[in-house]
Amino acid sequence: MPTPTEAVPDFPMPRAAECPFAPPPRLRQAQAEGPLSRVRLWDGSTPWLVTGYEEQKALLADQRCSVDPTRDGYPYTNPAFREAASRGGVPSFLNMDDPEHARIRRMVAGSFTIKRIEALRPAVQRMTDDFIDRMLAGPAPADLVASLALPLPSLVICEMLGVPYDDHEFFQTQSEVGLHQDVMPEAARAAHQALFQYLEKQLDAKLARPGDDLLSEFAARHREGELSRFEATSLGLLLLGAGHETTANMITLSTLALLEHPDQLAAVRDTDDPKVLAGAVEELLRYLTIIHLGNRRVAKDDIDLAGRTIRAGEGIVIPSATANWDPGFFPEPDRLDIDRNARHHMAFGFGVHQCLGQPLARVELQIVLGTLFRRIPTLRLAIDRDELPFKEYGVVYGVHRLPVTW
Ligand code: HEM
Repeated sequence: MPTPTEAVPDFPMPRAAECPFAPPPRLRQAQAEGPLSRVRLWDGSTPWLVTGYEEQKALLADQRCSVDPTRDGYPYTNPAFREAASRGGVPSFLNMDDPEHARIRRMVAGSFTIKRIEALRPAVQRMTDDFIDRMLAGPAPADLVASLALPLPSLVICEMLGVPYDDHEFFQTQSEVGLHQDVMPEAARAAHQALFQYLEKQLDAKLARPGDDLLSEFAARHREGELSRFEATSLGLLLLGAGHETTANMITLSTLALLEHPDQLAAVRDTDDPKVLAGAVEELLRYLTIIHLGNRRVAKDDIDLAGRTIRAGEGIVIPSATANWDPGFFPEPDRLDIDRNARHHMAFGFGVHQCLGQPLARVELQIVLGTLFRRIPTLRLAIDRDELPFKEYGVVYGVHRLPVTW
């Protein structure tokens, strides 16, 4: 039975101003009503909305679900994404199905193992201390986004890729354009092209003079015929974008959430136990779930789930925030509690597309949060929380600026 038009809520849904960390009230209502329902997107399409923890996991692990945006029925986040897909652009392995996805992911997976990333700890610690030194040497209030949250992950991924950090203003600005939910297709295309051409030039430079970095590895694979020029460039572009925007927003929102929970902040600041810090980061990942517009899929075959049938060609929106706030799995989900075991959260997704960069994000978050409040115990917001500009409809949730003082 089709659901009456007026009963299908629009997606994304607004958050409650007094509770900016919680998933939108209408989304939680949908979750309370059942694990599967329908939502209406900007283009009038009505894909499935999957809110239950178990149902999300089942679908994200199901090979009958495709991430390919060129398939009919794919639930696009905005017109710019639909336009890019209509040009046949499947920009990265994030939007490829196996076996193509697995072929490319395998080539980079070795650089993001826990062991390889743990070896970066001393360097990330040094960078974090340097950015904090510079912030403290400048005037207060300072914007934590510009002083620490954005530059730290940008510098780390630049060093890993072998891209000059001096170009950060260019690629940060262009990446941000593409992350606006209401970006016009022409603007998104121009930003993508500018970034793509920039990375192509970097790849050429590595072909001529290889270094000890990821882009040089991709260049070598291209020379050996394992990756096309387009694939090698797209891979660099995906890592550059995913490597800085996501963690930057997590650093900012985590800082804000801890400032609003002084008891939890004190526990993070006063511990010298890495396990406590690691637990705090998992809980913050759960509580904040910054990839908030949902992982998007389209069914390749009919799928029976929770008493309903998702038909082949139907879109599926999977917002991890509801899984992470599912009271059946995380009792009192609206309570930030760094002592709960939140390790089984879904903030990094699940299944074959589960976040490749999660060991890096974890190390960066543990180091930044473990250092920031220890070095600046008087850190506090410099403006009222109600004045903060939240990225309500950005692809990644966060705040544009976080003015702090000490
Ligand atoms: C706190 C920070 C981060 C969060 C919350 C996050 C979240 C996610 C999520 C939810 C997915 C799965 C998308 C889907 O299933 O459709 C994903 C995939 C991915 N992430 Fe992250 N991410 C973060 C940091 C990073 C970093 C630092 C990097 C790289 C340097 C990275 C690289 C990737 C890549 C390459 C994929 C695609 C994996 C695939 O399709 O196989 N992420 N991320």
